[in-house]
Amino acid sequence: PNITFILPDESIKVVDAIEGDSIMQTAVDNDIEEITADCGGSCSCATCHCIIDDAWIGKVGTADEVEMSIMESAIEATPNSRLSCQIKVTDDLDGIVVHVPESEW
Ligand code: FES
Repeated sequence: PNITFILPDESIKVVDAIEGDSIMQTAVDNDIEEITADCGGSCSCATCHCIIDDAWIGKVGTADEVEMSIMESAIEATPNSRLSCQIKVTDDLDGIVVHVPESEW
């Protein structure tokens, strides 16, 4: 499945993701350095924060309470904010647009 990352400088990076990987893993594998993923994907660091495009948030779903509270304690979360390690790449998400915020770390 293709994932389109929109980087903080508005540049666009389209990558071919592996089904079953997380979006975080996909970003790391494709050298998106804003996503440092310090905790390695265990939903505790918030350094994999991304913002799901409005057109896709319905499909991906918003963050649950645990995820939201981790984000809120670390960053300025928006309603479309997600921890990208908690989103699994599936064929359903082919074409998804993910905004990568400026690194806060
Ligand atoms: Fe740490 Fe996602 S990698 S919360």
